[in-house]
Amino acid sequence: MGLTLLFSLVVFFCFSGVSSSSQYLTSMFTLGDSYIDTGNAPVMFAPVMPVWIDNPPYGQTFFGHPSGRFSDGRVIIDFVAEEFGLPFLPAFLAKSSNVSQGVNFAVGGPTAIEVGFFERNNLVPFKLVNNSLDVQLGWFEEIKPSVCNGTEGYKDCFSKALFFVGELGVNDYNFIWMSGKTEDEVKTYVPKVVETITTAVERLINQGAVYIVVPGNPPTGCSPAILTFRMNPNKTNYDHIGCLRDVNRVARYHNMMLRAAVSSLRGKYPHARIIFADFYEPVIQVLQNPSVFGFNNDVLKACCGSGGGAYNWDPNAICAMAGVTACENPATYVSWDGVHYTEAMNRFIAKGWLNGPYAQPPIKSAVRL
Ligand SMILES: *[C@@H]1O[C@H](CO)[C@@H](O)[C@H](O)[C@H]1NC(C)=O
Ligand SMILES: *[C@@H]1O[C@H](CO)[C@@H](O)[C@H](O)[C@H]1NC(C)=O
Ligand SMILES: *[C@@H]1O[C@H](CO)[C@@H](O)[C@H](O)[C@H]1NC(C)=O
Ligand SMILES: *[C@@H]1O[C@H](CO)[C@@H](O)[C@H](O)[C@H]1NC(C)=O
Repeated sequence: MGLTLLFSLVVFFCFSGVSSSSQYLTSMFTLGDSYIDTGNAPVMFAPVMPVWIDNPPYGQTFFGHPSGRFSDGRVIIDFVAEEFGLPFLPAFLAKSSNVSQGVNFAVGGPTAIEVGFFERNNLVPFKLVNNSLDVQLGWFEEIKPSVCNGTEGYKDCFSKALFFVGELGVNDYNFIWMSGKTEDEVKTYVPKVVETITTAVERLINQGAVYIVVPGNPPTGCSPAILTFRMNPNKTNYDHIGCLRDVNRVARYHNMMLRAAVSSLRGKYPHARIIFADFYEPVIQVLQNPSVFGFNNDVLKACCGSGGGAYNWDPNAICAMAGVTACENPATYVSWDGVHYTEAMNRFIAKGWLNGPYAQPPIKSAVRL
């Protein structure tokens, strides 16, 4: 039964997306982290550290060169933009771009909660770059006058725009885990992360946003990097896939609270279309049934990495460092560099958010009036 259902989903994904009938959206504005960054991180990080993603093999699959994305090709919002006939979103920090059809504020490494909170509470073992959600909202507010110039008030300006707020939270929890906190301690920060995301969504709605996608967290306990950092000999800490149970429990707890928060927002702002995008289930589905979706069975191995073993990930020799190359066929891998997904995985997630079943409601049904 399970397989039949999965096959019909695959067929559905293959045929949907062929016609991009809906030209309804005028623009996209996206906030988030490295999963959807399209070039902000290289600008922001270049002055303080080497930027590996500016080297091949990043970008090799689609762009043919590094594109500022943390992947071999397109990221989730690229597939969404394509679906609506919009250009790939320029990165805000690249400045030179024409932002009339939207701009991407997402950047590698941000927390949802403002960075000062982590510093004041000793929740991070190193200095954070100041690029959290509130900073990204500030960037949005900074360019708003130029985007909306000529329109009567901001409300009309964004009524046909699609916003993304997230994914966020993965970095908050990763940093807190890395500072040595227990699972129960990490969980105590979930309400604050969710509230920060909720407040950001409200701030956008108050400025005229109507269509807003709020993605949850992926199963970070299945990422080759986290699996390597938190490797331990106790088998009961791993699930049937080989993922870390504690890290994934925090992700699921976050998702449950965020889903509930989105539901309350819908009640509070009935005119808005707030979409909860499930980032957890599509990844788990592929990890559990890789061959059904065209992926290989080494689902916990990074395509671009070194070190071999179960995860092919070595923090001292990561993707694009000297001598570290990509696998033969990235399209059959889930993880590109041990932290971020391959274009193939990003496409699967994007289609699931656009058409269902991994978004409530699916983006395409939400924006078609
Ligand atoms: C920006 O792009 C839009 C649509 O592609 C176009 O209509 C507009 O003239 C452009 N503006 C500038 C300043 O290039
Ligand atoms: C981060 O940047 C924002 C906006 O530029 C600023 O208000 C805030 O004080 C900064 N936070 C830190 C910790 O530097
Ligand atoms: C708005 O447009 C007018 C005329 O096109 C221009 O003079 C002005 O500088 C623009 N303002 C902003 C904030 O872009
Ligand atoms: C293994 O982990 C489980 C659950 O985290 C714990 O209850 C058990 O005591 C651990 N076993 C060993 C040998 O450390």
